[in-house]
Amino acid sequence: MGFDFGIIKEYIPFFLKGTGLTIGLSFAGIFLGTIIGLFIGLGKMQSNKWLALPFVWYINFFRGTPLFVQILLIHFGVVPYFIGETNAIAAAIIALSLNAAAYIAEIFRAGIQSIDKGQMEASRSLGMTHVQAMKHVILPQAIKRMIPPLGNEFIVLIKESSIAAIIAAPELMYWSRAMQGQYYKVWEPYISAAVIYLVLTLTLSFVLNRIERRLTTG
Ligand code: ARG
Repeated sequence: MGFDFGIIKEYIPFFLKGTGLTIGLSFAGIFLGTIIGLFIGLGKMQSNKWLALPFVWYINFFRGTPLFVQILLIHFGVVPYFIGETNAIAAAIIALSLNAAAYIAEIFRAGIQSIDKGQMEASRSLGMTHVQAMKHVILPQAIKRMIPPLGNEFIVLIKESSIAAIIAAPELMYWSRAMQGQYYKVWEPYISAAVIYLVLTLTLSFVLNRIERRLTTG
């Protein structure tokens, strides 16, 4: 077998670039996904069932089909339809954001619905409007409960961004596959990738743990 550290050294600049894009894709995904997810979550929560239906089906579609399928549809279908050519990084960001938004919409809904109904009733009986009660009473508590699952979604996105290799977005997994293709080696590229992903996810979960602890004691 013979583990060849030489080729790993040669690929360090590519792994670094790839890791940068992996982080960028996940950041973009969690950021845009949170904005879109809040919107979808609100849409799903409205009392008119018919108006809520498109939002329900948005969530059904993005949670009920593989991200793999979604990214191919967006890369070869949606993006070329709108801009006339393919763009792997744009497609990866769109697919990750739209996918994350479906999960974040549910995180958002669960966060709000986890706050006891009595709190809304109490706020209303004190003379607050529905919006005031949401803003001053419900949301501050709900947001606290949404932080851990949102952090979890971020970690998921770091790992799931590896799917973007299939549309040749030059992130970490793309360069690992390139390395395998160039040298017909398996252990070197994929163990390197695994170690880098581990460092990313463990670092992030460490940071998130600290934030959570501060939130629960504060
Ligand atoms: N691998 C799963 C899929 O293909 C996970 C999707 C992403 N999950 C998430 N929480 N954003 O659908």
